Amino acid sequence: MVSLSAFTIATLFLCAAAQNVTILKQTLSAAGVTAVYQGDANYSTVSRAYNRRFTFSPVAVAFPTTVSQVSTAVAAGTAQNYEVVARSGGHSYIANCLGGNNGALVVDLSQLKAITVRPSNNTALIETGNRLGDVALALNANGRALPHGTSPYVGIGGHSAYGGFGFTSRAWGLTLDRVTSATVVLANGTVVSASANVNPDLYWAIRGASPSFGIVTSIEVQTFPAPPSVTVFSYNWNDLSISAASTTITAFQTFAASNIPPEFGAELIFGQGSSSGKLSVQLLGGYYGAANLFSGVIAPYLNAAGMPKPSSQVVTPGSYINSVTYFAEGQSLNTSTAPDGSDNFYTKSLMTPSGSPMSAAAVTAFVTYMANQGFSSTADWFVEVELYGGSNSAINAVPLNSTAFGKRDTLFTIQFYASAPSGATTYPTTGFTFLDGMVSSILNNSPANWNYGAYLNYIDDMLANATTLYYGSQYARLMALKATWDPSDTFRFPVGVA
Ligand SMILES: Cc1cc2nc3c(=O)[nH]c(=O)nc-3n(C[C@H](O)[C@H](O)[C@H](O)COP(=O)(O)OP(=O)(O)OC[C@H]3O[C@@H](n4cnc5c(N)ncnc54)[C@H](O)[C@@H]3O)c2cc1C
Ligand SMILES: *[C@@H]1O[C@H](CO)[C@@H](O)[C@H](O)[C@H]1NC(C)=O
Ligand SMILES: *[C@@H]1O[C@H](CO)[C@@H](O)[C@H](O)[C@H]1NC(C)=O
Ligand SMILES: *[C@@H]1O[C@H](CO)[C@@H](O)[C@H](O)[C@H]1NC(C)=O
Ligand SMILES: *[C@@H]1O[C@H](CO)[C@@H](O)[C@H](O)[C@H]1NC(C)=O
Ligand SMILES: *[C@@H]1O[C@H](CO)[C@@H](O)[C@H](O)[C@H]1NC(C)=O
Ligand SMILES: *[C@@H]1O[C@H](CO)[C@@H](O)[C@H](O)[C@H]1NC(C)=O
Ligand SMILES: *[C@@H]1O[C@H](CO)[C@@H](O)[C@H](O)[C@H]1NC(C)=O
Repeated sequence: MVSLSAFTIATLFLCAAAQNVTILKQTLSAAGVTAVYQGDANYSTVSRAYNRRFTFSPVAVAFPTTVSQVSTAVAAGTAQNYEVVARSGGHSYIANCLGGNNGALVVDLSQLKAITVRPSNNTALIETGNRLGDVALALNANGRALPHGTSPYVGIGGHSAYGGFGFTSRAWGLTLDRVTSATVVLANGTVVSASANVNPDLYWAIRGASPSFGIVTSIEVQTFPAPPSVTVFSYNWNDLSISAASTTITAFQTFAASNIPPEFGAELIFGQGSSSGKLSVQLLGGYYGAANLFSGVIAPYLNAAGMPKPSSQVVTPGSYINSVTYFAEGQSLNTSTAPDGSDNFYTKSLMTPSGSPMSAAAVTAFVTYMANQGFSSTADWFVEVELYGGSNSAINAVPLNSTAFGKRDTLFTIQFYASAPSGATTYPTTGFTFLDGMVSSILNNSPANWNYGAYLNYIDDMLANATTLYYGSQYARLMALKATWDPSDTFRFPVGVA
């Protein structure tokens, strides 16, 4: 006797529901929405993932030019039971902007590029087809700035959906913390506002999980005065021993708790050394206060017991926009001047709790793994230990439940990144176990109840217990809101809100 649960029946119904591409085509065409379908000349170009490890075949990629066209596209996709996803900059690590599955309708936002800076109340209205470099240029032209990451080609849509960390974040928060309102296209095509006063529960959900709730066509953000001086810094240590490289982390944890100012933003970057047992280490960041104060701010870290002397260093004061350019590592901030790049990679992340920093044993195991297995790895790799927390961090000052972002009491967000070696066209199989083992080297030496998390902008579809690690205690409320705002589960993709 087989009995079907309501859930199974609903699933069968959804799978069996008709998907008629002819009707989709007719609807989009009647509304003047440009779209590229399977078999069209541009299809392979417009459906390529930034992460070449993934190939998906969407039913179509639509290029709406107005909010009304976005609405038409979403409603048409929902009516034909297609999975619908937004694409802003297209940098999702697991190609969720292509649906993360075959057969999705991709709503590409690249034609929605307006940025309006409003001096009257220091906000900016940013359409979500913009990329971070273009946002930084437009705001800076008006003397303003926003917290966000360093890569100019990352889209503001995905970035502000799931977080948005940069070196100004300890002073100004994550990108999503500065969103004051948004225009959202719901699954049925209805266009709504979301803010503290209008649809406050949707406003809560989109700051941490918007891809599961709708397509955000624009965000209004609070901006900051571009700081008059920014000191960019890069301290480099070549071929550190395991013990010295471990000290760069343990001393960083101690330093972070020593009342450091919010104007200090930094990360440690680890890479392969020139022999087994050695590592290259870099401290990269920006100081957003007066230039003459920086040496006093950094001194306690550089002079901490056991800290090695840097092999080289760059410490350069300059303008705010020069700092944005410096962190772009040679890429133009104006993203219309050169095409986007690509990679073939696997990424994981780990957010360490402020109240329980990594133990000495965890740090040693982690560094030993990077120095040894990292030397023999067939995949290229790097690790970034980003400073979210420490004293005076604006990220952790935001009450956990005021947005849907999963984790606030974070000291470090660690990104583990491995890619196909140059020249190779596929990611090496051993690269998965290599990176998984790196994360385990920390977890196996941490308390069983360690309250760690993971970062959705470094999204990983191979993460065990992903729902808990990404959404944490927000998940129950997100699921309830999902039923209200996207009852047909139009916006469905790997690691989304079910
Ligand atoms: C080279 C590189 C550097 C990076 N550096 C940083 C960094 O410094 N700091 C940091 O925090 N992160 C960084 N990231 C991660 C980055 O923030 C995420 O990959 C981000 O999600 C990409 O946004 P996107 O719009 O480019 O991607 P997309 O793939 O377009 O979108 C990502 C997800 O958001 C959804 N989405 C996109 N637009 C919308 C919208 N308007 N409404 C609703 N849902 C939407 C998509 O459907 C998809 O699920 C970096 C990534 C790369 C590749
Ligand atoms: C799809 O819709 C078109 C137009 O209404 C119709 O002619 C066609 O038979 C439909 N296809 C399927 C497979 O139902
Ligand atoms: C398809 O490619 C051609 C030639 O590169 C280009 O002119 C056209 O704008 C493209 N269309 C779309 C929808 O991308
Ligand atoms: C800022 O001003 C614009 C008009 O210039 C207005 O539309 C918007 O609602 C204001 N935003 C806030 C948060 O006050
Ligand atoms: C970006 O580059 C394009 C193409 O060269 C140019 O038209 C545009 O004015 C530039 N934008 C800015 C903000 O410099
Ligand atoms: C946040 O809300 C959840 C319920 O969704 C509650 O259990 C938790 O205690 C709240 N946490 C804080 C820090 O307010
Ligand atoms: C997943 O997370 C929950 C809640 O924290 C925990 O109880 C469970 O043990 C975790 N499962 C695994 C496999 O880690
Ligand atoms: C569209 O969806 C929203 C959210 O589920 C709902 O409140 C609204 O009534 C729907 N509109 C129509 C016209 O069905």
